[in-house]
Parts: sequence; structure tokens; C-alpha cells
Amino acid sequence: MSHYNLVMLPGDGIGPEVMGEVRKIIGWLEQHRNVTFDVVERPVGGACIDAHGVPVTDETLALCHKADAVMLGAVGGPKWDNVEYTIRPEAGLLRLRKELELFANLRPAIVFDALVEASSLKAEIVSGLDILIVRELTGGVYFGEPRGITDLGNGEKRAVNTQVYTTSEIKRVGRVAFELARKRGGKVCSCEKANVMESGKLWRAEMTALHTEENYTDVELTHMYADNCAMQLLRWPKQFDVIVTDNLFGDILSDEAAMLTGSLGMLPSASLGAEDPATGRRKSLYEPVHGSAPDIAGQGKANPLATILSFAMALRYSLNLSEEADMLEDSVKQVLGEGKRTADIKGPDTKTLLSTAEMGDAVISALSKLHKSRQAA
Ligand code: IPM
Ligand code: MG
Repeated sequence: MSHYNLVMLPGDGIGPEVMGEVRKIIGWLEQHRNVTFDVVERPVGGACIDAHGVPVTDETLALCHKADAVMLGAVGGPKWDNVEYTIRPEAGLLRLRKELELFANLRPAIVFDALVEASSLKAEIVSGLDILIVRELTGGVYFGEPRGITDLGNGEKRAVNTQVYTTSEIKRVGRVAFELARKRGGKVCSCEKANVMESGKLWRAEMTALHTEENYTDVELTHMYADNCAMQLLRWPKQFDVIVTDNLFGDILSDEAAMLTGSLGMLPSASLGAEDPATGRRKSLYEPVHGSAPDIAGQGKANPLATILSFAMALRYSLNLSEEADMLEDSVKQVLGEGKRTADIKGPDTKTLLSTAEMGDAVISALSKLHKSRQAA
């Protein structure tokens, strides 16, 4: 019997609803597979500001440090638009990423066969698409110093942010990209703006050096300016396998890649730290790519599949339960194949429109069927 410690941070907006469906899946796994979980739930983002005056507490951070995996829903909403900038809901998420040193953010963009029509691009451009964006998550302009707004005293203000990267920051995320490419399509495209920024020039040089110095030459490495990458993602996204890029370009390119698939409501992500050489474990946080969607919160309309697929990534990357991860991903495909849809992915001929909870239940019933047929085999 394996046992795991999970920290659950449902957050704001639709976060609690979609996380509730993961709870159900955890319950199913405990009943049917040889595994138990300790789940500790804490508020994050706006919910935590309301409860504790900060977007994440020290106690929660300490719990996350010790957990086998952290699951996060979403943070933010108009209710907290006017809180002080340093304690805004997003600052909680950024603090978690920074303090857990989750430097590698994996954002797959996969087009499910059943959802080809949901994309705004032509089916031939996106069908079968399976790309992975590896976004640097703890450096760059998100955290660079100096930063801030100063009053110049003459009616003018001046705002500064700093884009900064070091050799080791670039190489550690590069390694993750090369290792993952090896298990996928064998290609890495590194994106920056070396034509304009020194940080991009260094990024390109270090990726090139890493490729040969650490014997990743079985993986094909190409370089692309980030603006060109944004264009190529729309023109012919299937040219890519793994894209590795910095924090800000990764933020933008991953939203674009997500939308190629037709719905943000489908896309999971994993944020990983360095491997502990003693235990082989990594700190990790899993979250859907979509936000808190305050406009539909509490109405049972949210699509729980991105969070469910994020949990599948947790099973695979942090809990060593790859069979269960496969089963969960197959169940999601099964449910979509049966034409079951939440509002965000419904098409003109959608027959069954499901609520958040009904979609979670549909995944569980597909899991049960899969489990039974495996036992019979
Ligand atoms: C994301 C989000 C965050 C980011 C926000 C909520 C701070 O857009 O995870 O992509 O910019 O990183
Ligand atoms: Mg973003």
C-alpha cells in the first residue's frame, strides 16, 4: 500500500469547484487501487487574503515543502482588485513558485481527437497536435530587481522591471526540456529575443553549450525568436515538439498554445523543482492553465478536466503512479469520445451538456469501467 501527502489549495473563483472533482477521484483511487492519501486543504489567493490578510501563509508554505505534491485550483478575482499590490492574490502563487523553487513549468497543449472542432484553427492544422511548453518559472522579469514605480516629482512617474538570467538558471530548465524531449518527439526549440535583449543572447548561448557539453545531441536543438514562435504556433504548430523559453515569453506563448486546442478548460500544468539527489523526489505543484473565471464561479459550469488532468500529471511525475495516470487520462478521452461536454467545449452538435460535478462523475464511471475490464483481462 502506498501512502502520499497532498496539499490542496483550491483558491478562488471556480478553483474550489474543480478541485472538488479531484477529491472525488482521490476517493475512488483509495477505494479501488492500492493507495491512500493524506489531504490537507488550505486557502490561497483571495480566499487566504480574506482569512489571514496575506495570499499565502507561512504555515501553508511549510506544508507544501513537505508534501509529495501540491494541487492548486486558481487565484484572483475582481473582489481583490484593490488590495495592496504586494499582497494581491497572484503574489501568493508567485511566492509558492519562488519559495518552492519550482523553476520548470510544463504546459502541454494537446488536441483531443474529439475536440478538433473546438479549435478556432482549421482541423488539419491542429488535429493530433501534441506539444509541450517548458517555461522557466522562478526567474526573469517576474522576479528581477530592481523593480518598482518611482515618483520623479515633476508630474512624471517611472516604472522599472528587470529581465535577468544566469547561466545556471538557463541550464537547469534546459536540462528538463532536453530530458522530456528524449521521451517524446526528440526536438527542442529554444525561444528568446537574442536580437534585442542580452538576456536572450545569453539564453541562446547557454542552451547551445548545454546541448553539446552534456551530450544532448540525440535531441535536435533549434532556436527561434519569441515573436516568430508566436506566429509559427498559429501557422503550423505541429513543427514543434518541446518549446523551452523564459518566464514572460512562456506565459504568453503557453496561453497561445493553449488556445490552439480550443479550450483553456482542458489544459493541465506541472511546476517542478530540482530533484533531491538523496531521495530522487522533486517539489511540485500542479494546476490547470485556466484562471479563476469569476464570471461563472459557483454555477457548476466550470470544466473540471484541466484540474483532473493536472492531477494525472501529479500521479505520473510526483507519485510514481503512472498506471493510474494512464487510466485517468484514458478515462478523460473516453468521456470526450462519448460526446460529453461542459459548456466551454460544447459544439453545435453537442448532445449532452454536463455540469462540473456531472463531468467529474462521468470520468469516475469511465475509470470504474476501465478498472473492471483490466481486472477481467
Ligand atoms: C500563469 C498566470 C500567472 C502568471 C499569473 C496569475 C500570475 O498567468 O500561470 O500563466 O503570469 O504566471
Ligand atoms: Mg499566464
